[in-house]
This record gives sequence, C-alpha cells and structure tokens, in this order.
Amino acid sequence: MISFMLNHSRLTVDDIEPSMSMLDYLRTRKQLNGTKEGCASGDCGACTVLLGEINQDGELVYKSLNSCLLMVAACHGKHVVTIEALTPAKLSISESDLHPVQKAMVDCHGSQCGFCTPGFVMSLYAMYITFSEYPGQEKVIEYLSGNLCRCTGYRPILEAAQTCYEYPRVSLIDTKTVLSTLSEILLGPEPSLVMKGKSCLIPQNLNQLCEIKSETSGVRLVAGATDLALEFSQNLSVTPALVYVGAVDEMRKYEETDDEIIIGAALPYSQFLPIFYNSFPETQEVFHRLGSLQVRNAGTLGGSLGNASPIGDPAPLLIALGAKVNLASSNGVRSVKVDDFFTGYRTTVMSANEVIVSVSVPKKIENQRLFFYKVSKRIEDDISAVCVAVKLTLDGEEQIVTSIKTGWGGVAAVPVSAPHFESHLINKTFNQQNIHQAVYHLNKDFSPMSDVRASSEYRMEVARNLIDRCWYELSSNEVVRVKHAAL
Ligand SMILES: Cc1cc2nc3c(=O)[nH]c(=O)nc-3n(C[C@H](O)[C@H](O)[C@H](O)COP(=O)(O)OP(=O)(O)OC[C@H]3O[C@@H](n4cnc5c(N)ncnc54)[C@H](O)[C@@H]3O)c2cc1C
Ligand code: FES
Ligand code: FES
Repeated sequence: MISFMLNHSRLTVDDIEPSMSMLDYLRTRKQLNGTKEGCASGDCGACTVLLGEINQDGELVYKSLNSCLLMVAACHGKHVVTIEALTPAKLSISESDLHPVQKAMVDCHGSQCGFCTPGFVMSLYAMYITFSEYPGQEKVIEYLSGNLCRCTGYRPILEAAQTCYEYPRVSLIDTKTVLSTLSEILLGPEPSLVMKGKSCLIPQNLNQLCEIKSETSGVRLVAGATDLALEFSQNLSVTPALVYVGAVDEMRKYEETDDEIIIGAALPYSQFLPIFYNSFPETQEVFHRLGSLQVRNAGTLGGSLGNASPIGDPAPLLIALGAKVNLASSNGVRSVKVDDFFTGYRTTVMSANEVIVSVSVPKKIENQRLFFYKVSKRIEDDISAVCVAVKLTLDGEEQIVTSIKTGWGGVAAVPVSAPHFESHLINKTFNQQNIHQAVYHLNKDFSPMSDVRASSEYRMEVARNLIDRCWYELSSNEVVRVKHAAL
C-alpha cells in the first residue's frame, strides 16, 4: 500500500500493477484524461505533471516530470499535480476561471490541435511557481525543453511564457495543508505495492535495500525510471520484483570532503547539478542538454551507470575525472574506478547482490583544465552521437601536457578512455600539429559503429574534431557554446 496526494485529495493505493506509470493510473483509474499520452517514452512532454515533495530542509518543492516514466510507486509521500488542478472542478469553465498560464496560451494563440497543450501548460506552470517574475527566454526554453508541438510553432508559446506574468498572480497550492498531509503519510506504515506475485518494494534505508538484494534473486532496482520505464511502456516487459531506491536516504546525499565530491546514486540530476557546477562549471553545457528538464528532474547517476549504456553522457566525464563508483552490499562497500566498471555492452562488474550507492569525484587540482562536449542531432532531449570529456594539466608557457585523461561515449560498446591517443600527447606541447598527430591513434583505442544516429566514419571524424575544439578554446581563450538560434 502506498499513499500520496493527487491534486486536492489524499489517496491510498494497493490494487495496481507495481510497475504502473502515473500516466496510466491517471487516465485509466482516475479518468483524469487532461494528461495526454503522446510517445510514452519521455520524448514529447504531453504527459507532463508536477511532483511536489518535502526536501531535506523541510520545504515543499515541485518539479515537472513525464508521467509516462513516473511510476506510481515512486509517488509515496509526494504530491502529484495534474492539469485538472489549474481550473476549478466544475462543468462549465469560463475564461475568468483560467490560470494565468492558460489565459496567456489562449491570448497568444499558443494552441492549435491542443494535444500538446496540457503538457506545455504544466511545464510553464512549473516555471510560474518557481519564478515570481519572468525569468527570461533562456529559462523558458529550459522549462519547455521536453515539450514538442507539431502544429502551433513555438513563437506564440514563448510569448505566452512572458505574458502569463503580466496577469494578476494566482497561487493554487495550499502549502500548509500539503506539507502536513505529506508529513503524516511519511510517518505512516512502510510503503510497498504487491499484486499477483509482482511487487515494488520501497526500502527506507541502505541496510534494508542490501538485505532485499541479497535475499531476493532477480530484483530490478528503479530510481528515476527514465530508462527502465521504457521496458514497460515500449517492450511491455514485466519485472516481477522491483525495488524503488528513491527513498533510501544514504543514496540521496551530496557531500564534499577535502578532496572528493560524493554524489548519491539516487539523487536526481537537477538536484545536484547546480552545486556540482560550482566545482566543474565546464560541465554545464552537456548536462544542460542531458534529456530535457523533465528527464533531469527524475534521472540519476546510479541509473545511468546501472544501465551501462554506451551512449550515456555522465560516464565519459566520470572516466576523465578519475571518478569511482561506490558499490554496497550486505558485505560492505567497495569502490571501483568508472574506467574499470563496464565489462561489455550493458554489463558491469557489479555482482547480483550489489547496488550503486554513490559516485566519488576527485576535486580539481591546480592547473587542471576540463573540456566536456556532446554532439547530437538536436540541442536538447537527444542522445549523443559522440560525447567526450578531456582532463588536462599543462605546464609553462609552452603548454606542455603533463597529464591527460579522456573519456568517450558513443564510440564503442562501452564508455572508454583512449590510452594510445593520450600517450601521444604526454610531455608534448598542446598545439595543433601534435594534436593532429595524436588523434590518428584514436583508432587504436576504439572503432565506432554505424547506427541510426551516426555512421562510424562520422563518429571518428567528430571525435578528432572535438580535440581540435579543446585546442581552439584553450588557445583563443574563447569558450565555444552550442546555442539556440532564437537566443
Ligand atoms: C527522453 C529521454 C532523453 C534522454 N536523454 C539522455 C541524454 O541526453 N543523455 C543521457 O546520458 N541519458 C539520457 N537519457 C537516459 C536516462 O535519462 C539516463 O540514463 C538516466 O541517468 C537514467 O537514470 P534513472 O534514475 O532514470 O534510471 P532508471 O531507469 O531508474 O534505471 C536504469 C537502470 O539502472 C539500474 N539502476 C538504477 N539505480 C541503480 C543503482 N543505484 N544501483 C544499481 N543499478 C541501478 C536499474 O535497475 C536499471 O537497469 C534519456 C532518457 C529519456 C527517456
Ligand atoms: S507521453 Fe510523451 S513524454 Fe510522456
Ligand atoms: S497544438 Fe497540436 S501538437 Fe501542439
């Protein structure tokens, strides 16, 4: 049994498939059909809802999520807000009932067929409650990065994002009531969902999680579900034993020691990145383009590494930075360098009873330079064709390479480093001539494959060119940034 708030009501649920998505629940169990199903894979944003939860400071915070990827089980002790909450629950709605975001969409002609509109409105509503004043077009694009519209065109929607701030402000959420309801739920019985031999357990601490992992064979962990939910929605596969790790406190911490940053495996990207950027501002462009805001509000490092995808963006960075994956089991904790973590296509050194508890990233040392690039067909919400991270230390005016470590994604069956390439630059001046000689050794490090995203030749050419981009940025002192034409 799990409990959560849905709009203005408190609900207790125990009669659903443990892997059921919030989208299916809303549409098939609650007849809340305002939330639309477009792709069921996180790509269109038509299913966007808000999820509110109490953070570590005891505050209620809301974020936009794709309900097609959000498991109902992950909503225990949280507040789900759907498009229906934006207007009063009555049969006939007049213009004066519309929320400022909805009114602005009408006034700016931001909707044609209307299928995408509830999703856009919810993303704009997430922005509206986060910023009390218009935050500027760059922020608007960030908030809308996961929403697609096939007919209206984006200009009227961008206009609506500004116009909604010109109307009298409206506050819909009764924070006090929601806080006390969620606190009461969280103090209640331990949550889980069990139905017809299938289950989703929701351990509250690492000991419980490790116990479940060691006692039950074949369990699948789920964090943000931005990868796993596709197995349910696209492949219709069934996992008998799921374990939601998002309530495990030890996996939701962000800590800094003198020489390391430790990021909890179940901490969503959007929760740790703003702090991480203080230490590694160079990572901002790529992480800003990891999926969409909805995906970053859910996805985690544990999920990315646990999925062992060859095209995940974090692994190349973590390899270049010399990061370690901390694995926990009932036998204790061990650490493995991200370099040694992947053993083959979607396989890792993790044993059946282990979970990723956190990732430790060494702090920057003096003279260290970092470059992190991603090439994909679209700026956001698109998987990389090639992703590279380069960590360099250079000495003196001659810019002698005293150390270099690279991490690459999209070029092999696993995220890799490039020791041959790196060895041809060590103790040499970081200039174009030496770079051009070194990059021709990349083919000893990997041979990319061709697929729908890019051909093998293209990937190799891009890989070489990205090292040139490092040199250009270093020598010109100019940071090349990928930007929207509109900005
Ligand atoms: C529309 C869309 C766009 C995307 N764009 C990008 C992109 O641009 N770049 C990118 O890198 N990724 C992208 N992704 C992929 C995905 O968002 C990331 O890989 C994300 O980090 C997965 O995290 P999660 O918490 O959602 O994982 P989940 O789906 O919860 O889990 C993924 C896998 O990891 C396992 N797992 C989860 N937590 C742990 C743990 N603590 N220990 C061990 N195993 C664990 C699960 O069992 C599962 O097999 C995209 C996904 C979508 C849907
Ligand atoms: S239905 Fe397209 S993102 Fe959920
Ligand atoms: S109005 Fe038709 S898809 Fe956006």
